[in-house]
Amino acid sequence: MILRKLLFTFHIRNNCTRGFSIVHPKVVQSISLLNQNFPRDDYTNVTEKIISHLGQNLHLQEGHPINIVTQRVLNYFYASFKNSRGNPQFSMYNNLCPIVTTAQNFDSLLIPTNHVSRSKSDCYYINQQHLLRAHMTSHQSELMKSGLDNFLMVGDVYRRDEIDRTHYPVFHQIDGVRLRSKNQLFPNDNDLDIFELGDYTENIGSQDKQACHTLEAVKLMEFELKSTLLGVAKSIFGEDFKYRWVDTYFPFTQPSWELEVFYEGMWMEVLGCGIMKQAILTNAGITNKVGWAFGLGVERISMCLYKIPDIRLFWSKDSGFLNQFKNQEVNAKITYRPISQYPQCINDISFWLPNDKEYCENDFYDLVRTIGGDRIEQVTLKDDFLHPKTGRRSHCYRIIYRHMERTLKQEEVNLIHKKIEKEAAKQLFVNIR
Ligand code: DAH
Repeated sequence: MILRKLLFTFHIRNNCTRGFSIVHPKVVQSISLLNQNFPRDDYTNVTEKIISHLGQNLHLQEGHPINIVTQRVLNYFYASFKNSRGNPQFSMYNNLCPIVTTAQNFDSLLIPTNHVSRSKSDCYYINQQHLLRAHMTSHQSELMKSGLDNFLMVGDVYRRDEIDRTHYPVFHQIDGVRLRSKNQLFPNDNDLDIFELGDYTENIGSQDKQACHTLEAVKLMEFELKSTLLGVAKSIFGEDFKYRWVDTYFPFTQPSWELEVFYEGMWMEVLGCGIMKQAILTNAGITNKVGWAFGLGVERISMCLYKIPDIRLFWSKDSGFLNQFKNQEVNAKITYRPISQYPQCINDISFWLPNDKEYCENDFYDLVRTIGGDRIEQVTLKDDFLHPKTGRRSHCYRIIYRHMERTLKQEEVNLIHKKIEKEAAKQLFVNIR
């Protein structure tokens, strides 16, 4: 589904009665989100500002750093898990609706009714039954029910949080699930099983394992899970980075771990994972498999990878930010260069290339930088035109001027621009149009 049209409206209807009877204005309010109407109630705490993020789908915007990192994770899974015919085992779901029920977000994952993560102070509720998903794990159960064994899901998630350099109430997660049967896990050994014999419904097990699982199955699953996730991290950060696995707790996995990466002097949690609680599989109708699952934070990884200093930048529409990532190869090594907070001035320049001399684009870029210095933010070739009759070629470049410390005046920019035109004509033998 493409989430485009968003309305934040509430309709007020008065139940008026005729005559002299007392009027009890019954206020019915509803919120319309992604073309669905939801009644408001005591739980409603979504704000217009938060709603404005719905449907922006940064993960689907080609060339956005969130999209690039997603593509890199996906490529790793495609390359690492293939079936006997060479086709990828994992499939990716990138347009699951961010409006979910409390059953999806909590109940299906065995999150207790009194768990803090359900509180109004942590989540964006639309009403008592619906909320903006707080994690991609919300969709785990429905995708297993639909018959999938190996899948990834990516999307925007919403959590009430402070706003600062590393926190923002909307961010992106990639979740993944892999289910394995006894034959898949132990193809050559009929004596090994994935389940303990007997009734283990009362026994919850330990940090090592759930009571219903055999230790062999859990250890093998743990090995595959950790080596896969470390492989993902290495494919992104390279071989050389410091990491550690930390034992943790999630209501939906046991055992559970977090992967922390050492970045700029501190340990940063980049993902959570674990062996899926068997009851989640049973509730989804799966009785002959065990599963591992994970959820990783895309912004966190992207900030480390590209050295993006502030999480709010991901929502920037500023071309000074976006163009640093656009039209680049997915594995390109990019280091983010800080953009100015002052406004841009945009001027275009068009010229005919010389007929009898060689013209080199990089000469033009150097000339612009030499004349404009630090006031040049971007130069891009906008149009490359070949005249059908004369065979002459013309280029149009967009020059974006911007200063790091002050607002540039248009008159000042025009002077530099004129000088660039004059020098280009003189040094590169072009004809300004
Ligand atoms: N949903 C967790 C979070 O948002 C991350 C996570 C942990 C996802 C373990 C999983 C998992 O699928 O198995 O913090």
